[in-house]
Amino acid sequence: MIKDFTYYTPTRVVFGRESELQVASLVKHEGGTRVLLHYGGGSAVRSGLVDKMRVLLEETGIATVQLGGVVPNPLLSKVREGIALCREQHIDFILAIGGGSVIDSAKAIAYGVPYTTGDVWDFWEGKAVPSTTVPIGCVLTIPAAGSEMSSSCVITHDESLIKRGINSDLCRCRFAIMNPERTFTLPPYQTAAGATDIMMHTMERYFSRYEGMSITDAISEALLRTVMDSTPIVLAEPDNYIHRAQLMWAGSLSHNDLTECGYEKDFATHRLEHELSALFGVTHGAGLAALWGSWARHVLPGHEARFAQFAVNVTRLSPEDNLHDTALAGIETMERFFVGIGMPTSIPQLLGRPVTDNEIAVMVDKCSRGGTITVGSIEKLNTERMAAVYRAANLT
Ligand code: NZQ
Ligand code: ZN
Repeated sequence: MIKDFTYYTPTRVVFGRESELQVASLVKHEGGTRVLLHYGGGSAVRSGLVDKMRVLLEETGIATVQLGGVVPNPLLSKVREGIALCREQHIDFILAIGGGSVIDSAKAIAYGVPYTTGDVWDFWEGKAVPSTTVPIGCVLTIPAAGSEMSSSCVITHDESLIKRGINSDLCRCRFAIMNPERTFTLPPYQTAAGATDIMMHTMERYFSRYEGMSITDAISEALLRTVMDSTPIVLAEPDNYIHRAQLMWAGSLSHNDLTECGYEKDFATHRLEHELSALFGVTHGAGLAALWGSWARHVLPGHEARFAQFAVNVTRLSPEDNLHDTALAGIETMERFFVGIGMPTSIPQLLGRPVTDNEIAVMVDKCSRGGTITVGSIEKLNTERMAAVYRAANLT
């Protein structure tokens, strides 16, 4: 059965070489006059991108204020710092310069500035629902999280280490500037983790309890094959513009809901991974690679036909004698692909050690919100099944 859907993707994408030169006209179009430039730990400063944005904006009379230091798996404390700065400086537009962490931090600041009657974390605790935001745009420097076109904002609470996402169209970027040349400097690990995350955003919609939307399947399968083809090429040739461009566009299409039309997010692997990156600070895409094969084998019974379709149309295998063997071969091929691009396929490979039973219990408790929710769509995972996936991923 196909799921009814509303497809809404309002972000203006400005893609290509020198696309960042349009930043001032894009900000003006959105009515920005005092802009917060928000960025991460230094890559966008070292590359000169932050300064370039500052100069381009100030030349046209737009004032700028800077706030860097966003860490991967962005923290609530930085969000609170940003909210205070924006209020003090009367900021009316936020420009995120970086990847998913910076964009999500910008989104959270944007939610928090007009929310003067409580603390911004209320939104992540479900105590309040955002009703307005400061507009934001981004200059993307890593294809991975897809936050540049998504409605999602994932933040980690510094003390409780709860890492959680909230969704609202209010936080969608008004524009996303994407110059593939800006990704040439990515370290191989970040390139590979980003590619994994891109693939997982589509795979986590491909495996859903709905079925039959073959146009969405065809888009998803082409996207996944493209990422599998382009990633090894850019790892060997970091400045290959054409393949960096494929990855950058795939990253946006993978998480702007296009590959969900007719289907439903599963996102069990994402939810399980968020606990790994919250507890151990690991790179999100690497955490996904460490869990996916164990999740796939766990949910496979009853869904052999879908996994066999994946094996043939995505991993390009010839069908085996039966669906189960084809399905398993597809999972193994995907894991070999992850290994080939330098990603872990187990928790010990990710962390350098297995997690303890106690750590699994903590992650399961947080993921299930104290046993009150399940995760997943193709199969719903309760606490026992969450623990089973973590234990399976803890073995090799
Ligand atoms: O901090 P800097 O110095 O900029 O370094 C970053 C960071 O260390 C570096 N980097 C980025 N662009 C670079 C570069 N280094 C060299 N050259 C460049 N051009 O890469 C590192 C990772 O950056 P980060 O922004 O953390 O990566 P990513 O885009 O993978 O974002 C990960 C975060 O997004 C969340 C993840 O959970 C994680 O917190 N997600 C957000 C989603 C969303 N909002 O829709 C969905 C995702 O599923 C995901 O959960
Ligand atoms: Zn992701």
